[in-house]
Amino acid sequence: MSESTVERPQERIPTGVPGLDIVLHGGLLRGGVYMLQGRPGAGKTILTNQMCFHHAAQGGRVLYSTLLAETHERLLFNLEPLSFFDTSRIPEQIAYLSAFSTLEQGGLKGLVEVLRREARARKSTLLVVDGLVTAEESAQSKREFKKFIHELQIHANLVGCTILLLTSSSAETVGPEHTMVDGVLELFDNRLGRRAERELEVRKFRGSSYLRGGHAFQITQDGIVVHPRIEALLQNPSRLDPCRGERVSTGIAQLDKMLHGGLPCASTSVLFGPTGAGKTTFGLHFLDESSKSEPGLLFGFYETPPPPAPQGPCAGARPGEEAPAGHLRHDVALAHRAHPPSRSTASPLGASRSPPRPSRGHSPSSRVMRSRPPGPGARVCSRSGAASREDPPRGGR
Ligand SMILES: Nc1ncnc2c1ncn2[C@@H]1O[C@H](COP(=O)(O)OP(=O)(O)OP(=O)(O)O)[C@@H](O)[C@H]1O
Ligand SMILES: [Mg+2]
Repeated sequence: MSESTVERPQERIPTGVPGLDIVLHGGLLRGGVYMLQGRPGAGKTILTNQMCFHHAAQGGRVLYSTLLAETHERLLFNLEPLSFFDTSRIPEQIAYLSAFSTLEQGGLKGLVEVLRREARARKSTLLVVDGLVTAEESAQSKREFKKFIHELQIHANLVGCTILLLTSSSAETVGPEHTMVDGVLELFDNRLGRRAERELEVRKFRGSSYLRGGHAFQITQDGIVVHPRIEALLQNPSRLDPCRGERVSTGIAQLDKMLHGGLPCASTSVLFGPTGAGKTTFGLHFLDESSKSEPGLLFGFYETPPPPAPQGPCAGARPGEEAPAGHLRHDVALAHRAHPPSRSTASPLGASRSPPRPSRGHSPSSRVMRSRPPGPGARVCSRSGAASREDPPRGGR
């Protein structure tokens, strides 16, 4: 079931990462504390820097603190090839701060003081802590780590600064920081057989709806590009269904009765069954209901397509006759040769013809599809053209 998308108006910080603002329904919430987690190499640093440069381009100010062994020279050297990287923003709008030694000397208390002081002094509207796991490791107790996050939350609330905490801690471990922060985004690098696919998931996002589930993403020369899952993206239709309960005949009268009039118009149905069960025959019955105003398309994967023969006979045409204009000749012809949609082959399904449907006036839908889309010179052939309803039944095979 789709979730509510009713939003309270709240100030957003767009990430500027293609696709991610769609997933987040507009971006992060201003003054929120967010965690970005993922294994080493998942893309946390790239994603966050991309957001930072976008934020700076919008007039924002960023304090990027690192608790990593990775030097700033190395960090900037790695970011330099990416198109969003813009040295002119450093250090005025984007300041990099190495906080590792502060943590070593002053512990979490010293770290939070430096972060708050520096963020205030620089009027930062976005604060990043890259390497939260190092802060967690240096905490004497869970309580001390919770207090550190809490202090950051207070700062975020007071000055309206959005905070991003980057950690490589495992997704399976749910620590106190997960319950405290306003949102958790996670990056995955999944192995699918020999392939690897990057995926982003929003695990928590207080105060807003978002596109749930995994969304594929890529790391490119332009940084990260998120591809929101189509079904999540389109879960709320942008317009009313034009069909309004209309039914489309399957071409098999008894089945239409069982389905209360046929298949729902503009829908997709899957017919499955073992070899020889009658799937193709069923499909051809459906195709048989096509008309000039609602042409059908047969798209198969089993037969090798024949060479283009735009003037060749359509399967249903009698020898020496040309198929009527406007109908495909060779594509359907091949399928028909394998499974002729004659009344004799239809009979095992016990079909009697349903009466011809009047044209409904909405856009024609593809019915059954075949491996090669008709290119120039190939035309769609409906059963009504291939072997019209007036044709006498052809001899059984
Ligand atoms: N130009 C590029 N094109 C494609 N992929 C790239 C490019 N630059 C970097 N990468 C990928 O990004 C990964 C590094 O991303 P990033 O440094 O953001 O990871 P991370 O999650 O911060 O890792 P860590 O936890 O080790 O800091 C590299 O392993 C590489 O796979
Ligand atoms: Mg990193």
